[in-house]
Amino acid sequence: MARLQHFGWFFGRGFGPQGWLRPDWHWNLRWDRPGLYQQSATELERAGLDLLIIEDSLSPGPKEQLDLRVRGALGAPKLDPLQLTPWLFAATEHLGVAPTVNAGVLPPYLAARSFATLQHLSDYRVGINVVTDVKGSRHFGIPELDHDASYDRAEEWMHVVRRLWHSWADGAVVEDTETWRYADGAKLDAFEHRGEYFSLDGPLNAPPFDGNEGGKADGDPVIVSPGGSGRGLEFAGRNSDVQLALARLDVETVRAYRARIHEAARAQGRVPASLRILFVLTPEIVASTEEADRLVAASAHPSDSDLHEVIERQSIITETDLTGLDLDRPLDLAVFGQHVSKGSIGGLVGNADPATPLRELFTAKYRKGRISDGTGFVGTVGEIADFIEELGDDADNDGFIFNGDLHPATVHRTLDALVPELRQRGILRRELGGGGLRSNLLDF
Ligand SMILES: Cc1cc2nc3c(=O)[nH]c(=O)nc-3n(C[C@H](O)[C@H](O)[C@H](O)COP(=O)(O)O)c2cc1C
Repeated sequence: MARLQHFGWFFGRGFGPQGWLRPDWHWNLRWDRPGLYQQSATELERAGLDLLIIEDSLSPGPKEQLDLRVRGALGAPKLDPLQLTPWLFAATEHLGVAPTVNAGVLPPYLAARSFATLQHLSDYRVGINVVTDVKGSRHFGIPELDHDASYDRAEEWMHVVRRLWHSWADGAVVEDTETWRYADGAKLDAFEHRGEYFSLDGPLNAPPFDGNEGGKADGDPVIVSPGGSGRGLEFAGRNSDVQLALARLDVETVRAYRARIHEAARAQGRVPASLRILFVLTPEIVASTEEADRLVAASAHPSDSDLHEVIERQSIITETDLTGLDLDRPLDLAVFGQHVSKGSIGGLVGNADPATPLRELFTAKYRKGRISDGTGFVGTVGEIADFIEELGDDADNDGFIFNGDLHPATVHRTLDALVPELRQRGILRRELGGGGLRSNLLDF
């Protein structure tokens, strides 16, 4: 029997124009209204996915990149995923939802309170995708920290948020209708935090979570993190319940990535088995191996306009304007600021020789490959399920996060045939339990 794995969806496009640049746009669904997201979330829940993670970036981009980011709607516009989240909870019963929150921008007290509210409202289904991006700092009048300092700040942020969540001791809520005493103020922790980045007093004015009695943290919102650098993996080991992992998908890399996070977790006195490391996967499902071969062959020689599309997309992914670079020269990695995700740079550069002309890197990005031979992600349902099964069995993989927008057409294209296949193999759960997101993640 194959190993049971966890699955989720990374709404990597964020709360922006879903379906733009694709014929799906002509479904005429309103991207700025909740209906299309609610419909998609319902499908994800029915498919047995544990959670939906919603990407976000707070800024439309720096002045010189504004047109690049808005012309294909690849970087902006974007609405606030935190506001969308309750609409998704209203449409579902078991699915977990983790909107992205920038730990440098949302003050810890407000974050602790918003997520406490969502945790209660959703009956324990919320998560936070904690990110450390600093590019939007200019919109908030705060300094743009360097990479490691942004992680230091995120560590402190996480510490204070948790302290606020735990600032009501056991027995603080009395609810005695004889005396009409609701709570006991002596059991609230009016701590004073004076840290390097944050200075604030407790306690939080939200009631405690069920499951946190006796010093446990079972009721806390689930912490998700995506950073892939050494600091990012350490952050995950120390703080996260779920790592959104972007890496090469082969047995050796998956094993090494998991080992790094587990090691950081152990160093913190955590049990590695309490974390779920879920790798980002964007499969392209075809009806037959002949169709797969046709798709792969058709992508071998991109036209200039095909390449242009790749360059624009990579510019958004790496948050760096790559459009004016000389395609016949090698890529100078100095073009990327220190905050650009290592995973995203690695996704473009791969294992290529540093002397490789840029045109070849972009061409390689455009080219598709077969999942069955490890050159890409095009495959039949059976081939994709084989790949998923193999990483579960041979690399002890916890599971995958499918990546895409939240347009119903994308969700159906990815899941319609794959879900029954994974279920038949015993890789995908048949239903979600009623205990909330953490409980679903720890079911197996
Ligand atoms: C798969 C993935 C998803 C990410 N999602 C977001 C996001 O939604 N919003 C954001 O501001 N940053 C996002 N990031 C950026 C990270 O928070 C972080 O700032 C960046 O990856 C640099 O950290 P690193 O060097 O540890 O990777 C994401 C990164 C990865 C790899």
